[in-house]
Amino acid sequence: MNEHKPKIFVTRNLPERGLELLFQNFGKENIKIYPGETPIPYEELLEEVKGIDALLCLLTDKIDTQIMEQAGPQLKIIANYAVGFDNIDIAEATKRKIVVTNTPGVLTETTADLAWALLMASARRLGEGERLVRASQWAGWNPTLLLGMDVHGKTLGIFGMGRIGQAVARRATGFDMRVIYYDVTEPKLPEDIKATPVDKETLLKESDFISIHCPLTRSTYHAFGIEEFKQMKRTACIINTSRGPVIDEEALAQALKDGLIFSAGLDVFEKEPEIHPDLLNCPNAILIPHLGSASVETRSRMAEIAAQNIIARLNGKTPPNPVNPEAL
Ligand code: DGY
Repeated sequence: MNEHKPKIFVTRNLPERGLELLFQNFGKENIKIYPGETPIPYEELLEEVKGIDALLCLLTDKIDTQIMEQAGPQLKIIANYAVGFDNIDIAEATKRKIVVTNTPGVLTETTADLAWALLMASARRLGEGERLVRASQWAGWNPTLLLGMDVHGKTLGIFGMGRIGQAVARRATGFDMRVIYYDVTEPKLPEDIKATPVDKETLLKESDFISIHCPLTRSTYHAFGIEEFKQMKRTACIINTSRGPVIDEEALAQALKDGLIFSAGLDVFEKEPEIHPDLLNCPNAILIPHLGSASVETRSRMAEIAAQNIIARLNGKTPPNPVNPEAL
């Protein structure tokens, strides 16, 4: 009898541990890894998916009907190497009984740490300070040099109170902050998180810092545009570590330029890796290249989890992290 050996395509080189798990379970010869350092071109991905049983992809890969069609009916799982999965057409996958999985949990604390790094950096103008020093333009201590905003004792507004939002809120205790949040669901918060639910308007008006932690959906697309910035405090900072399109980048650049808000700390952008040129010209925006989960430990755990999802599914078991369990 000819035993079917599952074929797996991985769209980028990943931390070793995840790949090792796949090699051990399915044999190195059955796993193909795209060797490039930038996203695999769509046309190439269309070719590579033909006949595969599992796809391990990144948030930079658009997985649509055509990719699934081209792969063929034997495709059983799309394991996304991310917690967010807005790059995948979930409804289409479900229709085709393809399970989509993500990597939740392991990156919560790491991403919350980064949101705080951006919050502190944008409140205290660290980007401007660093640029000044590196340009050898620092003329010495000055009572009015680069004055920022205090963080302690202020109001932190969380937009999207899921796992990461909660982890960000928890960290605010050490800064003696009041925490308010807006969420379309009514999350049951653990006792150690003291935070008050508010409507969006209250969040905009009362927050000194707004940190965005919602998924990107049709209803969160451009949830922050010029009308929202007009309602915020002129001293407020906005932080985004979720998905770029939740903010209208052009409107944000305008708001920063006109002083509608004080500053922004952005890890994600509307058309990564492009950044709106007006934002690049805003000294009061801290811009970093989608580093939310980028710690050695977390990226390695994410690779392990993506591999474990594939191993379970290809062995006929329920994968640990399905986002469309109805496809099972
Ligand atoms: C995710 O997992 O969705 C993050 O954006 C990756 O850091």
